[in-house]
Amino acid sequence: MVKSKVWTLKRKFDGKVQTSDFDLVEEEVSDDLKDGEYLIEALHWTVDPYMRTREVGNVERNQCMPGEQIAKVIASKNSSRPVGSIVRVFAGWRTHTKIINEQEQRVGRMPEMNDLPLSLALGTMGMPGMTAYFGFLELCQPKKGDTVLVNGAAGAVGNLVGQIAKIKGCKVVGCAGNEDKCKWLKELGFDEVFNYKKVDLSEALKTAAPDGYDCFFDNIGADFTSTALKHMKLFGRVSICGQISMYNDKEPPRGVYPFMDILAKQLKVEGFLVSRWYPRWAEGEKDMAQWIREGKIKYKETIYKGFENMPTAFVGLFDGANTGKAIISS
Ligand SMILES: NC(=O)c1ccc[n+]([C@@H]2O[C@H](COP(=O)([O-])OP(=O)(O)OC[C@H]3O[C@@H](n4cnc5c(N)ncnc54)[C@H](OP(=O)(O)O)[C@@H]3O)[C@@H](O)[C@H]2O)c1
Repeated sequence: MVKSKVWTLKRKFDGKVQTSDFDLVEEEVSDDLKDGEYLIEALHWTVDPYMRTREVGNVERNQCMPGEQIAKVIASKNSSRPVGSIVRVFAGWRTHTKIINEQEQRVGRMPEMNDLPLSLALGTMGMPGMTAYFGFLELCQPKKGDTVLVNGAAGAVGNLVGQIAKIKGCKVVGCAGNEDKCKWLKELGFDEVFNYKKVDLSEALKTAAPDGYDCFFDNIGADFTSTALKHMKLFGRVSICGQISMYNDKEPPRGVYPFMDILAKQLKVEGFLVSRWYPRWAEGEKDMAQWIREGKIKYKETIYKGFENMPTAFVGLFDGANTGKAIISS
C-alpha cells in the first residue's frame, strides 16, 4: 500500500473561496498492480479559476478536488509507461494515484517538452497556453496593426494573449491589479499598461487607444466588459474567455446588457471553451515551443512549494496573488 494525500472539498463553496473549504485527508492506494496498470506520484499541480465553477459544481462534499497534474510513474506493469516516465493526467488534488484505465482516468497526451520545464505542460504549453493561442487567434483573427485589449493580463492566459498579439504585429493594451504586474507586462512588450484598480476604466481605455480597439480578449466579465465594448471599433472582434470577476458571486449574475454596443458597432462576440480545439492542441504547442525557443514568448510561474499549499494557491487566484501561472510543486 502507498499512502496518498488528498485535498477534498469540505463544503460546497459559498461566496468567496476560503482555505477552510478544503480538508487534507490520507487514502491508501494499492500498489498491487495487474497487467497494464501503473502507479504515479505527482510532481506538479495546477489551480485554475474554473475549479470554482462548473467542474466543482459536480464535486460532492468529501470528494477529491478536480484538476490536472504532471506525475511520474513509480511502479508499472504497463510497457508503454515504464517507471520514470511522465504523464499529464486529470487526477485531481492528490499525491498518488493508481492508473487502471487511462481513458476513464483522463491520462492525456503530454506535449513535447524537450528541455522545457515539465510544469509548463500545465501553463504555457498546457490548457492556459492553448486557451490564449486558439481563443485569441481563432476568435479575434488579429491582423498586423490591430489594437488589442486584454484584461487579467498578468494571469496565466492574459500575458500569453498579449505576447501572441505582439508576435502578430498588433498594438497591445493590457491591465492588471498592481504596479509590479504592470511593470512585468511592459517588460513583455505590452505597448500600454494600466492598473485597473487605480483608474477610471473608460478614461484609461480611451487614453491607451484613442481610436478604439479592434480586438478584445475578455478574462474578467461583468462591468469591465460593458465598459470595454463601448471602446470597440466598428467590426471589432471580442473573445469571451472568462468571467473571473463573478465566480465568487453568491447571487446569479445580473448580466451585462451590451447588445446596443454590439449592434451599433457590428461587433463579433463569441464565447469559447478551449476543449473545442483539443484535436488541434499539438499545433498550438508546436508554435508555443518555437516562440519560447526564439525568445518571443516569455513565461513566468508563481510556484507554491508543497502539496499542503494547494488551497492557498487556489484562493490566491481570486486575490491576484499570482503573476503568470500558479503552480504547486512537490
Ligand atoms: N474559456 C476557456 O476555455 C478558459 C480556459 C482557461 C481559462 N479561462 C478563463 O480565463 C480567465 C483567466 O484565467 P487564468 O488561468 O489566466 O487565471 P489566473 O492566472 O488565475 O489569473 C487570474 C487573474 O485575474 C485577476 N482577477 C481575479 N479576480 C478578479 C476580479 N474580480 N476582477 C478583475 N480581475 C480579477 C487577478 O489578477 P489582478 O491582480 O490583475 O486582479 C488574477 O491573478 C479566467 O476567467 C478563466 O476562468 C477560460
